[in-house]
Amino acid sequence: MKALILSGGKGTRLRPLTYTGAKQLVPVANKPILWYGIEGIVAAGITDIGIIISPETGEEVKAKTGNGDRFGANITYILQEQPAGLAHAVKIAQPFLGDSPFIMYLGDNLIQSELNLFLDRFKDKQTDALILLRQVPNPTAFGVAQVDENGRVLHLVEKPKVPPSNLALVGIYFFANTIHDAIANIQPSARGELEITDAIQYLISQQKQVEACQLEGWWLDTGKKDDLLEANRIILDTTCLTASVLGEVDEKSQVIGRVQIGAGTKLVNCTVRGPVTIGSDCYLENCFVGPYSSIGNNVNLIDVEIDHSVILQGAKVIEIHQRIVDSVIGQRVQLVAAPQRPKALRFMIGDDSQIELT
Ligand code: TTP
Repeated sequence: MKALILSGGKGTRLRPLTYTGAKQLVPVANKPILWYGIEGIVAAGITDIGIIISPETGEEVKAKTGNGDRFGANITYILQEQPAGLAHAVKIAQPFLGDSPFIMYLGDNLIQSELNLFLDRFKDKQTDALILLRQVPNPTAFGVAQVDENGRVLHLVEKPKVPPSNLALVGIYFFANTIHDAIANIQPSARGELEITDAIQYLISQQKQVEACQLEGWWLDTGKKDDLLEANRIILDTTCLTASVLGEVDEKSQVIGRVQIGAGTKLVNCTVRGPVTIGSDCYLENCFVGPYSSIGNNVNLIDVEIDHSVILQGAKVIEIHQRIVDSVIGQRVQLVAAPQRPKALRFMIGDDSQIELT
């Protein structure tokens, strides 16, 4: 069994962050989204992992993630010249996949459940494809499946106007080698992509076995800012379970609840209320950091109140006299000084931006 993680694509919905970096490397609770997928796959016992990368962000993904040693895996990088669709990614990965069955994992998806349960079911039933489905309130925004009472998939439709069910396709799939033949038999869709839903629909039309499992726990697709903040909230809630202070906290500061503070970080006259994670080598003075905030390495915060937000590494936020909420602040952003109290602030600021409030 192998794994194929898709970490190419355009990431248009997460611009401007994705102008300068890979969507899959944006951190959730200070760890790249992509790494959660790798760890989940390795935990399920799969260590032979291919990662699809794009020409724009591939080198960054490679440099950060490495050859797999840190995960106990063996990673092969596969360059996809154009984001020509999920099935296209499988097509170009064929030399890596060979005849092996595999799990296909979209690099910007996170799920609560362990993969073992689904993997065992896929192996036991020896189906051609096992897809994961999740009930959603707005199925028109997703690929949607119609399933019979035994869990067999009857029909798939991409972003339907009149959805046949409220079961959306989660970005995790299990395939036997028959998927390659299916992909060879489909044409690009109206948006010019080779769609994995079309390939699965082809399997169904050939009377192949396509089954579905329903996902009970949370599923997050971190494609947009609010999804990213929600992922950050849920991951902090489930992984930041104890307090751990490696940095320096002065006697005027208060650190309350589940707060992680990295080495070399200094807090002067600050209140931090967890769950919060703060990276290493940061400097915070006269700040309030509220629940569900993640602050990357080398961040500088002075006279700032922040809540339910993600600040990427190297950012500098100074003397903003209004609480910053529900915000994502990119790498190396400089956000400096508001002399008078502005009415409200809500940010989605890209890497390298410089903002002065005057
Ligand atoms: P999407 O989120 O569907 O596409 P995208 O990354 O281009 O984002 P946006 O819609 O904001 O423009 O892709 C799901 C995952 O699959 C994501 O991790 C990127 C990856 N992907 C590829 O690796 N190759 C591809 O050809 C496509 C379409 C996506």
